[in-house]
Amino acid sequence: MSIFLDAVQGKDTRRAPIWIMRQAGRYLPEYNAVKERYGFWEMCRNPEVAAEITMMPIRRFPLDAAILFSDIMTPLAEMGVEIEFAPGPVVARPVRTVADVERLRVPGPDGTAPFVAAAVRMIRERCPVPLVGFAGAPLTLAAYLVDSGGSADGHHGLRAWLYDRPAAAHLLLDKLTRVTVDYLRMQITAGAQTVQLFDSWAGVHASDVYDEFGLPYARRVLAGLEDLAVPRVYFALGSHHLLGPIAGLPAEVVGVDWRTPLSSARAALPGRTLQGNLDPAVLGTRPEAVSARARDVLRQGLGGAHVFNLGHGIRPDTPVGHVQRLIETVHAFDRHTEGDREDDEKVPR
Ligand code: CP3
Repeated sequence: MSIFLDAVQGKDTRRAPIWIMRQAGRYLPEYNAVKERYGFWEMCRNPEVAAEITMMPIRRFPLDAAILFSDIMTPLAEMGVEIEFAPGPVVARPVRTVADVERLRVPGPDGTAPFVAAAVRMIRERCPVPLVGFAGAPLTLAAYLVDSGGSADGHHGLRAWLYDRPAAAHLLLDKLTRVTVDYLRMQITAGAQTVQLFDSWAGVHASDVYDEFGLPYARRVLAGLEDLAVPRVYFALGSHHLLGPIAGLPAEVVGVDWRTPLSSARAALPGRTLQGNLDPAVLGTRPEAVSARARDVLRQGLGGAHVFNLGHGIRPDTPVGHVQRLIETVHAFDRHTEGDREDDEKVPR
């Protein structure tokens, strides 16, 4: 067993395990070196390269879990959507009409990005810590499809489309849900030991709109994995106003962004493992500030199981030394005594 798997299964561990969203990415010089040689899709589609990028942060830091190197857009390309990265995803033709939705392929249980299953198997052979698989939640994937990419205005286009074309929206979300269930089941069957559903754009919606277009599809994805008995993480950015509905989702772990203190998330989500939630901005400051703020987060996470993480992905300009400092701070914090051990030995479980 690992301390990460203990915590995601609900154990109030003596120290908090830590991994970092986007830990396999642009703040790592070795990642940027590989990027000189391959395009982003090439890195995702070549299992050997994807496995090695997944291993980069694990080789450098004493992290407690790995996350598969891929992207939430990977299954969409398999559905026939043309996507480039610049560096965020750019969708060539937006999906907006019923005919657009009908053109999207559903590749079937083992047909959704089989190269990802191959990468997962390779990672499991070489990785000493548990592997987190992932996918985008249907409403977040729809945001990129409807608006042709990311958004600087809170996906105004998607929000208007949901009010205007609810039938097309439900058709699209249903299709994305079916593909996402197949895709995550394939990752778990190949060896992913936990899966995270990223709902990065859930927070832009009114709570009743989320109740209609977000929640039921996230529930179907998570429930569709139930029989595989792997812990499920649901992470919705900016979701303070959605914690009520989120509390009803079949996920063992809820990811919390930096805006909601873990102590108030704990009250809204009794019995769940909480994951988060250091503000990624802290990693751009001084090492002492990183440690001090990490300890605040650790204290706010007491009172139940906690997996330490950032409140959103690590920024590309983060100094790697600050990441090392963060991991050391988290590993040194004893959740029973609420302080550091006096020697530099790691806190036992
Ligand atoms: O280390 C990891 O976390 C594993 C790999 C991973 C990537 N994307 C690689 C990537 C994961 C888990 C994702 C998830 C993802 N992708 C999300 C959900 C998490 C979130 O940030 O909210 C979203 C919304 C996307 C879509 C996406 N892909 C964006 C917005 C971008 C822009 C660049 C960035 O880093 O924010 C990407 C490109 C991308 N995905 C890169 C990486 C390493 C950078 C590409 C490059 O190297 O130029």
